[in-house]
Amino acid sequence: MPVSLNTLETIIREAGDIALNQFNDLQNLEVSQKSPRDFVTAADIAVEKFLKQALTGQFPEYGFWGEESGQSENQAQRWIVDPIDGTHSFAKGQYFWSISVALEIDGELIFGAVYAPALNDYYCAKKDQGAFKNGQKIGVSNETDLGNSMIATGFACLRSYLEENNLDRFCRIAQKTTGQRRFGSAAMDLCLVADGQVDAFWEQELNLYDIAAGALIVLEAGGTVTDFKGNKGVFPKQILASNGTILEELLKLM
Ligand code: IPD
Ligand code: CA
Ligand code: CA
Repeated sequence: MPVSLNTLETIIREAGDIALNQFNDLQNLEVSQKSPRDFVTAADIAVEKFLKQALTGQFPEYGFWGEESGQSENQAQRWIVDPIDGTHSFAKGQYFWSISVALEIDGELIFGAVYAPALNDYYCAKKDQGAFKNGQKIGVSNETDLGNSMIATGFACLRSYLEENNLDRFCRIAQKTTGQRRFGSAAMDLCLVADGQVDAFWEQELNLYDIAAGALIVLEAGGTVTDFKGNKGVFPKQILASNGTILEELLKLM
């Protein structure tokens, strides 16, 4: 991968400083509604503008796809960016929000970083090179019993007013597990699977920019990424990430 990890970390941490400046001044934060139950803030726009300029400036050979500014030309080799994943949490002053940046070359994810500035946690992975958190190698948990496990999920589907809205599935799985969490940033949910803080995460009706970086980080940490039927791959409409050892039991409940 002709892109230095240090250069990328510097760019992404600088984007984090832009977000933190606004996070530390929430009473002046401009918040608007993109659609029912979907917010965007001035911080989302400012962070994406910075990342687009910095990434396409340093690496003009790659295209760009950002949640707020859409897709540039060259979508075959592109940066896939979510400037603030967890905008609602950000606007409420909660700490679980992140900046997600992935590089996809000809349909293959080869780099992913998820940075949580308020927690100062920087996760990254390079294809076939493992996954790291703040420079330390990470791996998924070795929990083998679903009954003892901690799972995380999200309800993007409520925004889509879908009939099949994950609530029944959540109730089924909650009754078979010990801990359940709704952190509010799909990118971070995936990183918590990668470093073993949770044993599995699933969600429906997401977009590739929510999960691209986090999915590679889970895979490089030794986890699994599938749809709800167990098909391997990164599917935004249905993503199930796990430590691998509780996958079969979980699939029976999806
Ligand atoms: C949201 C977060 C949340 C998920 C939502 C996503 P956003 O991203 O990832 O956890 O449940 O559906 O849209 O909108 O804050 O970038
Ligand atoms: Ca998102
Ligand atoms: Ca976002």
